[in-house]
Amino acid sequence: MIGRKVPFVTFRTRVRDESVGGPNPYRWEDKTTDDYFKGKRVVLFSLPGAFTPTCSTYQLPDFEKLYDEFKAKGIDEIYCISVNDAFVMNAWGKAQGIEKVGLIPDGSGEFTRKMGMLVRKDNLGFGLRSWRYGAVINDGVVEKWFEEEGFSDNCETDPYGVSSPQNILANLDEKEAVAA
Ligand code: BEZ
Repeated sequence: MIGRKVPFVTFRTRVRDESVGGPNPYRWEDKTTDDYFKGKRVVLFSLPGAFTPTCSTYQLPDFEKLYDEFKAKGIDEIYCISVNDAFVMNAWGKAQGIEKVGLIPDGSGEFTRKMGMLVRKDNLGFGLRSWRYGAVINDGVVEKWFEEEGFSDNCETDPYGVSSPQNILANLDEKEAVAA
């Protein structure tokens, strides 16, 4: 995985825009992998689902808490991606009070599939979701890879440790961010 360029994908996000008016002032905004990764050194972490317990109790809030420590080690942005639509990802971020970590909705699973990380979670009634992993991505190229062990369909357990922010931070060398 290290050295591999991330696939080019367009994500359908929902952004707040007061000019829309009404009680729900949001509009669609397409964002591509270039928007998220080009010219930046970022941490991406991917998880099985918004609102799920480990993701909501540890992984997402801990990345948010440690955001400034990642910045101090030359990380420009932290992104959380999940095979969930933009409505769900926005609601999850709001419920968690997330202000620093960016949430990427991979609702159709295209990015996750092209990364080779799509797994079945039919045992939980989830359908196709992401295996849990983290990565440092430098100008669109995978610099470091943190994949939980046991990649499999319908996994009975939910391994979590390798892709925790604490582990990724501990394995992060300081490096100059790429020039934009
Ligand atoms: C969790 O984050 O705890 C979780 C993730 C996927 C399925 C079930 C639980």
